[in-house]
Amino acid sequence: MNEHTRDINMARVERDIEKLSEFNATPGDGITRLTYSEEDDRARKYIINEMKNFDLNIEVDGIGNIVGKLEGQDQSLGSVMTGSHLDTVKNGGKYDGVVGVVGGLEVIRTIKENNISTENPLELIIFVEEEGTTFGSTLIGSKVFTGKYNIEDIKRHKDQDGKSMYERAKEFGLNPDKMIETKDRNIKAMIELHIEQSIVLEKNNLNIGIVDDIAGMKWFNVNLRGEANHAGATPMNLRKDVLVVASEIIKEIQNIVNKSKSGSIVGTVGKIDCEPNVPNVIPEKVNFTLDLRDVNKQALEETSKRINNNIKEICHENEIDYSIELMGESSPIQLSNKLKKAARKSAEERDYSFKIMNSGAVHDVGILADITEAGLLFVPSVDGKSHNPEEFTSYVDIERGCNLLLDTILQLST
Ligand code: GLV
Ligand code: MN
Ligand code: MN
Repeated sequence: MNEHTRDINMARVERDIEKLSEFNATPGDGITRLTYSEEDDRARKYIINEMKNFDLNIEVDGIGNIVGKLEGQDQSLGSVMTGSHLDTVKNGGKYDGVVGVVGGLEVIRTIKENNISTENPLELIIFVEEEGTTFGSTLIGSKVFTGKYNIEDIKRHKDQDGKSMYERAKEFGLNPDKMIETKDRNIKAMIELHIEQSIVLEKNNLNIGIVDDIAGMKWFNVNLRGEANHAGATPMNLRKDVLVVASEIIKEIQNIVNKSKSGSIVGTVGKIDCEPNVPNVIPEKVNFTLDLRDVNKQALEETSKRINNNIKEICHENEIDYSIELMGESSPIQLSNKLKKAARKSAEERDYSFKIMNSGAVHDVGILADITEAGLLFVPSVDGKSHNPEEFTSYVDIERGCNLLLDTILQLST
């Protein structure tokens, strides 16, 4: 069969993307759909309902990862999985994650309604807490799904009110003591469709990115403790102002990252909290995050050590108490050559222009790479904007991505 004689139904994809964007806590200021929020609940129900309409067999694990299965001809064969995430960062965009969820759903709907029978079962997976916005570590759903994280990790990761993901999952109506046992699953491949989130495809006027390597990442939480005192009455030489120390450290982080020979390493301090956060009190406590990433493992490790030592030195010099906690990490990943080849063949058959490229953003499929053949497809992001209300990918580009996902999945499953 010439696979690309079938096309996905783009009207249905557009409807789903638009509908999901309504489940949003910040209308008019990007999309905010945090894990276990009411908006998340509504988005999950919408997708589960769509899966039910197409008779998928649905399983939800103890923290809320959703899997919908369409049986193949041979029950003994491993599943070909596809999917992504529904959670967003605060004031994020409409396409990050959603394109892979809706695209994967649409591929399975197309296969089912055209009565195309595949040898392998097909599974749509929706991972919970990919962004790490609520519980302080990215890719939690896929880490639990693959057994990298256990219940203790779920108890360790807390939200801003100090409640653990374990407690919040219970409040959300889940049973976090029950996890999907990945060791009992037979997975042949996992392939994720995602927006690029950078400018490479647009700049080169290309339709598709086929991903080679995904950057590794480390997330740190840095706590500094000084002394609160009167902003008017305390002379400058008698202060332990931790916000000043934090600013020195943050500037040094940028210097260290810029000086790295890697050429691909990036570092970001994106969240900072200060206490008591009052104009006329010298700051006593500062907490900030560090997001450090590189496709080069050695550079990531070395830079991370250098930054840790530097924080130690600056705190010693300033007689400041500090702690540095590693909140989460993932290694740089090389994706499956077999899947790259399959995607490339499908792109050539459809006459889509493409590029083999790396991903600076992390993705759940990178975690799945430890247990199965893993592949990642990109569609262009306008102006390279993402994690931003202005994030945009045209429906023409999304349609190409969905059709490429369809053809690649059919290659892998028949
Ligand atoms: C996830 O979107 C990340 O790369 O931060
Ligand atoms: Mn994403
Ligand atoms: Mn994201």
